[in-house]
Amino acid sequence: MKKIISVISVLLMFLIAACSAGTKAEPTPTPDPFVVKGRQVFNARCATCHALEPNTTIIGPSLAGVATRAETRVPGLSADEYIQISILRPGDYVVEGYNNVMITNFSKELTSEDMNALVAFLLTLK
Ligand code: HEC
Repeated sequence: MKKIISVISVLLMFLIAACSAGTKAEPTPTPDPFVVKGRQVFNARCATCHALEPNTTIIGPSLAGVATRAETRVPGLSADEYIQISILRPGDYVVEGYNNVMITNFSKELTSEDMNALVAFLLTLK
């Protein structure tokens, strides 16, 4: 009898181990961690003025679709370049209908890693 109980308990332990291993290894679709970081920077620094829903003005324009728009905003500038200039020197190209009130010290406040992640995130907003 004692033997049976110990066999059962060993089996149970295997079962529990197998189950918990199963939940641990469950594949979740993982977005690019760099873009995820960029989104966090956006939430912390930019979301007070910029919505991500289309046609929603907070203080600045919605950034929905900004990656597509940025390609044609300024002739000769790529989307990447336009977005970087918009963040680092917002006064260079002011969006029609808005005032030039965007904070201008991001070049000092953001680390280059944060900046690159932020641009990577914004470039996903097609
Ligand atoms: C104090 C409010 C404010 C904050 C904070 C702010 N912005 Fe802006 N932003 C604006 C305003 C107003 C405009 C429109 C005028 C202009 O072009 O400068 C703008 C314009 C832009 C544009 C150009 C959009 C287009 O359609 O051409 C981009 C890109 C942008 N902001 C990105 C950012 C990012 C990224 C951050 C965070 C690092 C940020 N902004 C933080 C107010 C803000």
